[in-house]
Parts: sequence; structure tokens; C-alpha cells
Amino acid sequence: MIRRTSTSFPVRKIGNDYRDVGAAPDALIPGNPMISQMMCGISMFFPPGERFMIAAAKAVEDQIEEPALRAEIDAFVRQEAQHASEHSRANKYLARLVGLDSEQICREIVGLWEFIEKHASPKLRAGVTAATEHFTAINSEVVLSDLELADSFAEGKAKQMLMWHAIEECEHRAVMFDAHKDIGGSELDRIAIMAVYTIPAVTAGTLPVIRLFAAHGQLTNRAAWTTGLSVFGRRLAWPIFTKYLQYYRPGFHPNHSPTRHLEQYWRRRLNIVDTGARTTA
Ligand SMILES: [Fe+2]
Ligand SMILES: [Fe+2]
Repeated sequence: MIRRTSTSFPVRKIGNDYRDVGAAPDALIPGNPMISQMMCGISMFFPPGERFMIAAAKAVEDQIEEPALRAEIDAFVRQEAQHASEHSRANKYLARLVGLDSEQICREIVGLWEFIEKHASPKLRAGVTAATEHFTAINSEVVLSDLELADSFAEGKAKQMLMWHAIEECEHRAVMFDAHKDIGGSELDRIAIMAVYTIPAVTAGTLPVIRLFAAHGQLTNRAAWTTGLSVFGRRLAWPIFTKYLQYYRPGFHPNHSPTRHLEQYWRRRLNIVDTGARTTA
């Protein structure tokens, strides 16, 4: 196991108001309604996903003997609780803009997590959480490292929240991977879980994006598809796919992709000053 260089990471609160996002379909990324709505769709399923992962982490916490890893699980839970709370407030506003309910927008992926929560063992749920964390970490890494893409986001509270979330997904990317391994999850388990989980999770996770795109009247907007698919293919899908495949490599560990430099860069840009004090989530 690769040891983390720091034993913990802070839990930060931002408490933003998202009414500055605007009602236009491309309010988040001017000129690109598809990627704008993709970000909004992902935001819709973060809170239920984070609740699923928090429950999975709590279900195995007592089995972890190493104090440093237990402390990181605690910090992981509190970071995810902050993300869920922040995105929930944004989502209520974003869903209201198109007259929909955020829980309904992402019902399939919520159903998938509810099914896993009901039927899977704590160890399997930890493995699914480690796989989900791989998705969030590699997506975050790609967005944080592509400055042209990041700079195309409209400046404001929504961008600040997305970048804050991305920083923290990089910070805690290895926690549930290590927890799954610590409670006896083998490398074969980890790889098999990812292989089985990917297609249902990606399919169910795409539907909220399509629903929002449709709700904004963009499904027949040919220019929106062209611009969106061009950015999606070149800047998102390909780099994310290559990083996704790393999970199948024997001996893989999330910390093989160090992101400290990206985290530091974005903390400076967002004026995030860590006092070391933890919030009470
Ligand atoms: Fe999160
Ligand atoms: Fe996470």
C-alpha cells in the first residue's frame, strides 16, 4: 500500500447562494449548453451519491484498525456531507429553472445506489464506493488540469463550488480504496466491481444530463450538439477514459496520480485558506 504523505485533509464549508447562475441553458459555460447541462446533471446526482458513499464508509469504519485511515474516513465522510449539502441547494435552484424536481431528474442512478445499498454487503459497498471515487477523482483531475476548459466556465459561485468540490475529490481519492483493501477486498474484487458497475452507473448517470438538456429545449439544437460533442470528445471523454482504464492495472493505487500541484494551484486561485480547523458537518 502506498502511504499518503499527509494523514488527513481539512473539511471546508462554502455556503454559497446560486442565484447568480442564470437561467440560460449555457449559463455555466457560455456558448456550450451541452457541457453546461452536463455539469448541472452531474450536480443533480452528487447528493444521493454522496449519501450512498457516506453510509458505505460508516458501515466499514469500525472494521478499520489503523488510526490514520480511520481519521481519513472521518474526514472523507465530512467532506462528502459538505458536498451533498452545497449541491442540494444549487440543485433545487437549477431544477426549479426548468420546472423539474432534482430527485426525479436522477431517479435511475438513485435507484441503482438504493439497490446496492439494500442487497450488497458492507465490503461490496466499500468496493463500489472506491470505484465511484475513481470516477469522481479522474473527472476532477481532468477539469482541474485543463485550464482552457476551466477558464471557459462563467466566473461565479457555481464555478467556485465545482472547483472546490474537484479539489476535495482529489484530496480524498484514496480513502475508500484503502478502506476496501483494509477490510479484505482483493485486487480481483476491486477490478470485478469496476467492470460490473461501470455500464449501469454510466448509463444511469447520463439520463439526468439528457433530461436537463431536453428540459432546456436543446435536444434539436444542432450547433449545441456540435460544440458540446467536440469539447466532450477531445477534452473530457478521451482523457477520462484513459485514466479510467488505469483502475484495471494490477497494483494500481489512486495516489499513483499525484494531484497535489493541481490542488495547490486551485486553492490559490479560489483563495481557499486552510486554517487546519475542521467544520462540524
Ligand atoms: Fe463529493
Ligand atoms: Fe468523493
